[in-house]
Amino acid sequence: MRLIVLGPPGTGKGTQSRMISEKFKVPHVSSGDILRENVAKKTDIGKKAEVFMRTGQLVPDNIVVKMMAEILGKGKYRNFILDGFPRTINQAHELEHLTKIDLVIYLSSSEKVILERLSGRRTCSVCKAVFHIKNMPPKKEGICDKCGGRLIIREDDRPETIRDRLKIYEILSDPLVFFYSQKGLLREVNGDQPAEKIFSDIAAMLKKEKLA
Ligand code: AP5
Ligand code: MG
Repeated sequence: MRLIVLGPPGTGKGTQSRMISEKFKVPHVSSGDILRENVAKKTDIGKKAEVFMRTGQLVPDNIVVKMMAEILGKGKYRNFILDGFPRTINQAHELEHLTKIDLVIYLSSSEKVILERLSGRRTCSVCKAVFHIKNMPPKKEGICDKCGGRLIIREDDRPETIRDRLKIYEILSDPLVFFYSQKGLLREVNGDQPAEKIFSDIAAMLKKEKLA
C-alpha cells in the first residue's frame, strides 16, 4: 500500500501512521521526523530547515522535494505511509513524478481539538515516541514508557507558533484536499474521534479498497 496521511497539524497523522505501520508492516515515512533528525544532526538540510521549522513555516519546496526524492526514489520503499508530505500543490506534482499513490487518508479535525492536542503533546527526546498529558499520558510523568527517555515539548508547539502553523496549513496545504479528491483518491476520516476508533475506520477503509 502506498498511502498519504493528510490533515492539519496535531490531527493525529503521526499517531495513526505509526498504528497503520505496526499493524500492516508498512514503513512510516514522516517528512517532519526526517527534518527534525536533520536539524538535530546539524546536517546541511537541517541547518537550512531549522529556522522555518522553529517558527512554524514550511521548509521551502526545493529542499523538501530533494530530500524526499532521495528517500522515495532509491527504490527502498515499495510500500509506504507518507506523513507530512506532500504539503503544497507543487510538492504533490513532484511526488507524481516519483511514485504512484493508492489512497489519501484525510484526517479532518476541529480547531478546538487540534489546539488541545498540540498543547498537551509530549515527545520523547530519545526515541521520539509521542504522548499526550491527558489523552495518552505516560505511566510516569515526564518519562517515556518505551525507552525511559525524557519527554519534551516540541519547539513548534508553543501557542503562537501553533496559530501560525494552522494559518499556513489552511493556505498552502488545505488545497491538497481538493487536489486528491478530484483524482478520486481522497477518503475522509473524522479525526476528532479516539485514536482507536480512527484507526478502526482507516483499517476498514483499507480493506474495502483491497489495500490490506
Ligand atoms: P510535522 O512534523 O509534519 O508536523 P505537523 O504537520 O504540524 O503535524 P504534527 O506532527 O504536529 O501533528 P500530527 O498530525 O502528526 O499529530 P500527532 O499524531 O503528533 O512538520 C513539522 C514542521 O516540519 C512543519 O511545520 C514544517 O516546518 C516542516 N515540514 C514537514 N514536512 C514538510 C513538507 N512536506 N514541506 C515543508 N515543510 C515541512 O498527535 C498530536 C497529539 O495529539 C499527540 O500528543 C497525540 O498523543 C495526541 N493524539 C493523537 N491522536 C489523538 C486522538 N485521536 N485522540 C486524542 N489525542 C490524540
Ligand atoms: Mg506528526
